[in-house]
Amino acid sequence: MKKIFTVLSLLILLTQCNLPANDSAESKAKSLVKKMTLEEKAGQMTQLTIEMLSVYDTTGALSKPHALDSSKLRQVIVDMGVGSILNVGGYTYSQEHWKEIIGSIQTYAKSSRLQIPVLYGIDAIHGANYTVGATLYPQQISLAATFDRELLHEMAVKVAQDVKSSGIPWNFSPVLDVGRNPMWPRFWETFGEDPYVVSELGCGMVKGYQEGDTMMAACLKHYVGYSDPRNGHDRTPAYIPERQLREIFLPPFANAIRAGAKTVMVNSSEWNGEPVHASHFLLTKVLREEMGFKGVAVTDWEDIKNLIERHHVAATYKEAVAMSINAGIDLAMVPLDLDFTKYLIENVKEGKIKESRIDEAVTRILQLKYELGLFENPVVNLMGNHTLHTDASKALSFELASEAIVLLKNQGNVLPFKADEKVLVTGPNANYINALNGGWTHTWQGRDTAYNPEVNTILNALQEEMKQGNVSYLKGNTYTTRLSDAELLRAASGVSTVVLCLGEDTYTEKPGDINDLELENAQQELIQVYHKSGKKVVVVLVEGRPRTFATTEPMCDAILFAGLPGNAGGDAIAAILSGKVNPSGKLPFTYPRFSSTHSTYDCKYTELYDKEFKRNGFNPLYEFGSGLSYTQFNYNGMSISQRNLGAKDSIQMEVTLSNTGTTDGDETILVFSSDEFASITPSVKRLRAFKRVHLKAGEKLTVPFVMATKELSFVGLKNQFELEPGKFFFSVSSLKDSIEIHP
Ligand code: BGC
Repeated sequence: MKKIFTVLSLLILLTQCNLPANDSAESKAKSLVKKMTLEEKAGQMTQLTIEMLSVYDTTGALSKPHALDSSKLRQVIVDMGVGSILNVGGYTYSQEHWKEIIGSIQTYAKSSRLQIPVLYGIDAIHGANYTVGATLYPQQISLAATFDRELLHEMAVKVAQDVKSSGIPWNFSPVLDVGRNPMWPRFWETFGEDPYVVSELGCGMVKGYQEGDTMMAACLKHYVGYSDPRNGHDRTPAYIPERQLREIFLPPFANAIRAGAKTVMVNSSEWNGEPVHASHFLLTKVLREEMGFKGVAVTDWEDIKNLIERHHVAATYKEAVAMSINAGIDLAMVPLDLDFTKYLIENVKEGKIKESRIDEAVTRILQLKYELGLFENPVVNLMGNHTLHTDASKALSFELASEAIVLLKNQGNVLPFKADEKVLVTGPNANYINALNGGWTHTWQGRDTAYNPEVNTILNALQEEMKQGNVSYLKGNTYTTRLSDAELLRAASGVSTVVLCLGEDTYTEKPGDINDLELENAQQELIQVYHKSGKKVVVVLVEGRPRTFATTEPMCDAILFAGLPGNAGGDAIAAILSGKVNPSGKLPFTYPRFSSTHSTYDCKYTELYDKEFKRNGFNPLYEFGSGLSYTQFNYNGMSISQRNLGAKDSIQMEVTLSNTGTTDGDETILVFSSDEFASITPSVKRLRAFKRVHLKAGEKLTVPFVMATKELSFVGLKNQFELEPGKFFFSVSSLKDSIEIHP
């Protein structure tokens, strides 16, 4: 009897554990939908920008200080029942102002017939970057260079707390586009070129945002195929064969959906001639039926309307609305007109959109609102008096920035600087915070410093770090212009080393389009002039994408790729230059040598070399995974416990490495596989595992890796993942071993 009872309790317990956490939210949402009118449902599917609710001054500009307009609030929130608001009115608000405006939006929502709270969304992509005083962390391309799953997760938890303490429960982050095209102006918003890295770090960020008491909904961007436009410009066509889409671009989304991501934002652009906002195949067949996504699919900015004016696939706004909603859109980031809602209603009344499609979309939106606890606590300030920019978050930002900086070259060990080294610092990014942070920093393009706390530029940090009087500064070199040779040389007369802080100004989206990846002449001439003069040249690249400089690269003694390291970037760069921190970042992308031809590290054998003419082979300036240290790591051995495996087995491997230098350091072990022969031409290599480890000087470490053999599958002729038997090689640094997979 006792046994039966125990089994029964176990069964009950197991059933409870298997119940989806959102079960009650889903049923509550379904019953609320039954009470709603068509007009109320259409309102829920509408998302407007806060500018539609704000007060403007007599010149037509948003009033400063920012304020909400009560008559607009009544019209939009109460009369139309708009379900979601996004964004900031032009600039960053204090925590208090956020709570005040969200509080008044929710008060109006409370006075509507069904009292449905509004869902507020924001782009807090590297910290609560729209809340005054919050800690800003490195941008995603730099986070990827850390290869540090644990720190990224810790950061995501902190960002969720900061954003939620501003009353905002939904973050348009992370970007899971795979950065395959360095020309693309949103390259820096990605975790780089490898789908496995994007998946691993992306899933960690989603979990960090969405876990625990401070749960904030993540939004996977931008589903799918946005990041590889043929001409490199933002929001222009991508031509990606379905096989490549499934092999490279879809897996990060599929994995993050499995990790529980609650929302997805759709790619503004077109895939093989089909605007993604009108693609039933991508939005319903693949996203819902294949990948099992149950959350909310939101459009990107104005992208239903763009089906007319930008894409020319719909003749009228009303037709565009039917097209996108029938394709699978749940929520429209309208965000600047009130017509979407009207046309949605008309389409349903005319039978062009089934009401069941509307019910499905509204159920998802309401379910999310229940899951976020908005019905009970619409201002979501779960944090009490939450303090921003604590010592712990400042330290985390510094640690991430330090781990993100990649030492690409250190000829003759010019770095770290000697204790009494005299340096001249110059270049457009030497004394400029904005470039360290990049876009989405207090404003969309990140060009307004007024809201930034006092933080160090590279120059300030170096002045603090090094002996007083040993750091001088030359102002006047910009991205595209430079001082005369005489002026440059005069400034460097008393120093042994020149630190050139080069790269790019801040940008995102269209304003960041360029026509040439090559770093501007004026900046490369600085390298030439100082190299010729016999000074040691140390280049610090603060840039959102790898700008090419193959001709002048050999003239540099040391090169740091700093990426976009955020507010602590200046301190981290100075700490690395001075030797206080040992560099440990690794490139999460291939740094091209040439501006007109580029292959990623996982290229095909035909891209590797030209056997006949012995030229034109894969020859990047720096390979994926490059990154030096002030110490030396030796890879001593790699062992695979079983070499003959079946399709369901797992591969168990150990890698031994040692720190043979005199400094403690971190190393990221990268494990690649190569398929010897396959029915689809295999990549030369693919990253299958990575682990960041710390080794004290002289320490030796053995690190285990386990992976399922099915991880070695690829998208075959039928456009499905399959595992073909045969030989696979594994490589870690210069070590190699192989396994055999049997049918
Ligand atoms: C961007 C998105 C962003 C949205 C809302 C769009 O222009 O493409 O990444 O989330 O604006 O600000």
